[in-house]
Amino acid sequence: MINMINPYTPGSGRKPGYLAGRFPIIQEAKRCILSTMNLFPERSIAYYGLRGVGKTVLLNEIEDAADELNALYEHIEIKENNTFLKDISLACQHFLSSMSFKENFKDKFDRMRNVLTRINISWNMEDNSVSAQMSDKPIIYGLSNDFTDLFVSLGRVAKSTGNTICFFIDEVQYIKNEQLEALLMALHRVNQLALPIIVFCAGLPKILKTFGDVKTYSERLFMYVPIDSLGEEDAIKAIVEPAKKFGAIYTTEAINEILKNTGCYPYFIQELCSNIWRMGTSDTIDVQDVINAIPEATKNLDDSFFKVRFERCTELEKNFMYAMVKCGELPCTMANVSSIMKRSVSQISPIRATLINKGVIYSTGYGEIDFTVPKFDEFLIRQNPEIQEYLNKII
Ligand SMILES: Nc1ncnc2c1ncn2[C@@H]1O[C@H](COP(=O)(O)OP(=O)(O)OP(=O)(O)O)[C@@H](O)[C@H]1O
Ligand SMILES: [Mg+2]
Repeated sequence: MINMINPYTPGSGRKPGYLAGRFPIIQEAKRCILSTMNLFPERSIAYYGLRGVGKTVLLNEIEDAADELNALYEHIEIKENNTFLKDISLACQHFLSSMSFKENFKDKFDRMRNVLTRINISWNMEDNSVSAQMSDKPIIYGLSNDFTDLFVSLGRVAKSTGNTICFFIDEVQYIKNEQLEALLMALHRVNQLALPIIVFCAGLPKILKTFGDVKTYSERLFMYVPIDSLGEEDAIKAIVEPAKKFGAIYTTEAINEILKNTGCYPYFIQELCSNIWRMGTSDTIDVQDVINAIPEATKNLDDSFFKVRFERCTELEKNFMYAMVKCGELPCTMANVSSIMKRSVSQISPIRATLINKGVIYSTGYGEIDFTVPKFDEFLIRQNPEIQEYLNKII
């Protein structure tokens, strides 16, 4: 086996050697872009799913499609400390400069510049540059009006110059409610005017509820598409296809062991196969190779994928998460967590809220909660073996 090149790609947003199972979703996104290009704008799309299922990879893939179709696009990743206003202003400026070679639309450009100047005040009229600083001047016309004005101006310029605008917004769960409301109102207006702007965003499952809470008509503006672990057939392709390119194959037992260990989650498949590949000695990968690689793959996941989330939590939050696992079943109820923590539901509600804000847990509905990170319960048991002893006693 050629172990010099590893065809597996564990890591955030890394383009996989073989993109499994997302073909229909990408086709549908392409159709929406094409339709929007032809001035029959489609609803924007919100992809939602757990950590590591491949949302960023999917957005990147659709960006490639937008590029091939000659649509204009910008990628925004909202950070936890929220830089959305600055990011969206910069994206609009990039769109503006891509379209600005057509001088005869000066009025529309000027109008857009005015809005951008209001939102992102440090616009330099002299050299057309936007400073990276956020303005601390008050927003004069209200964020929703400014956003609507901005999007409508942008849409009109795009339409006049024969362009189509695609926004790609990742980690959209970190957007603030008033910003989301402004974005939804702007899209609403743009949709009414049939202007060629479409938004693709991706985030944790909680966005379903947030979008609905912020604006009741959000389901008319967005199509919500769940992104889940891969089906078994697709998971097998994600495992075998990258190896095939190097003449390596997996035995059926090896494949079954990988499916069992990874639960068909793309990130876990990449991590495990990457380790199998690194340790491999022959062109035929058998079940023993898989078993040999599991401890290292698990350690890598613990040290990166899981720990980045865990280490940002306070002791109290960790205790809350341990209690969730001690419920013995996920999703679990707040009532159960509260009785395990020996505190009232109202006492532990603020902990739940901060964990949701940090994107570690989410509400699955009916008062139940679960982790946004697949297999996080197993990781927590590895961190704190006392949980397993507790579970052994109650079962
Ligand atoms: N369709 C796929 N087929 C094979 N591997 C994939 C697929 N999608 C994603 N991956 C792999 O899974 C891993 C996680 O992908 P990605 O970062 O896009 O997930 P995510 O949903 O954005 O996670 P997060 O919520 O943490 O940002 C990467 O290592 C990537 O290479
Ligand atoms: Mg991502």
